[in-house]
Amino acid sequence: MRIKPIKEFNRVLTPPPDKSITIRAAVMGMLAHGKTVIKNPLLSGDAVAAINAVGTLGAEVEFDRGRLIINGGKMINANVDARNSATTMRLLAGALAGHDVTATITGDNSLCRRSMKALIDALTDMGAKIESKNGFAPLKITGASLHGIDFVPSLPSAQIKGAVLLAGLNASGKTTVAERIKTRSHTEDMLKTFGADIKTENGIIELYPGKLVGAEVNVPGDISSAAYPIVLALKKGFCYIKDVGTSRRELIDFLVSIGGNIKEEAFGNRADLEVNRSELKPFTISGQMATALIDELPLLAALACTIEGESVIKDAGALRNKECDRIKCTALNLRNMGAEIEELKDGFVIKGGKLRGGNAHAYSDHRMAMSMAIANALSFEGGTVDDDKCVEISYPYFWELFV
Ligand code: S3P
Repeated sequence: MRIKPIKEFNRVLTPPPDKSITIRAAVMGMLAHGKTVIKNPLLSGDAVAAINAVGTLGAEVEFDRGRLIINGGKMINANVDARNSATTMRLLAGALAGHDVTATITGDNSLCRRSMKALIDALTDMGAKIESKNGFAPLKITGASLHGIDFVPSLPSAQIKGAVLLAGLNASGKTTVAERIKTRSHTEDMLKTFGADIKTENGIIELYPGKLVGAEVNVPGDISSAAYPIVLALKKGFCYIKDVGTSRRELIDFLVSIGGNIKEEAFGNRADLEVNRSELKPFTISGQMATALIDELPLLAALACTIEGESVIKDAGALRNKECDRIKCTALNLRNMGAEIEELKDGFVIKGGKLRGGNAHAYSDHRMAMSMAIANALSFEGGTVDDDKCVEISYPYFWELFV
């Protein structure tokens, strides 16, 4: 895909539905007794992998006028393919571990190269039986009787927290999770909607075992996908983004803090955003913010290359275990585009203002492809991204931003 430098960006758009929320709704719909209705589900590579997997595992899945209807509560033995989706693999592992089923979960080459060790360790502590290839997928889960644990994650991960909580539904006794660095709360929030006995007090999540009951989930737009047109608008003009989920709102707060002109019309945990061209300041992202913005960091590294001055991103070592090593690959790509970027063990140092553009590799990673497309659109000369298909994982009509 060839991307020309954008002179003027002017759009009104609705971002794709939230990937994290769609996948969780499908997995909880599989566990829940009765009918679950998912309105505005994401139908992208990762979400479809989750929807197919829950169908293969025994849930009745049907589409009705754009809504996804799931009748769950009866799992069967199965082999499923999570394809590129680590969220699907990890959440399903937790969801199945305490049920009387045997399931194998595999994935594509990229997913089978990502460590599942922290997941396996946490679930094994609860009594789960999981066979793996030395900590990598395929995972074979043989239902076992579980007991609740007091889980203190050594590294922040919403997926592993989610897996432990889903396993806790079918364990004896209470499960607690005390995160030192807070991650997205979609699992806890949605478990409440599905009738779980769960609360969060003083930052500690407490869950008691119990059955889920079918629920209605209305999926908002995905802030991580909206991030791409937001960045284009901040640099090149204007966009009005309709119905984005703001329960994960750190990106908006961060961009406003560096000078972004973003107006928000909020309705509950969702909002319309009006974004206007802004003079942005160089920035440092670290600690809690690095975790909250983890999926947006390759894009923000590209943005930093267009802002005069030094920007630093650190405490983001988790990027090395994503769909590709997003630290190494982002640095390589941006350097090839003329940027001055130094790779740190857990982030980058960027001296901005010199983004020429050039040919970028996607490394089969949807967020790498999209971030580098934006980098080229913001550069002086433009360039290419070598894989236009992989954006389908989370943002199927991404390339329409450039026509
Ligand atoms: C996700 C959590 C994050 C994120 C991923 C989606 C989720 O991964 O990078 O794209 O839906 O729970 P972690 O498990 O490392 O938090």
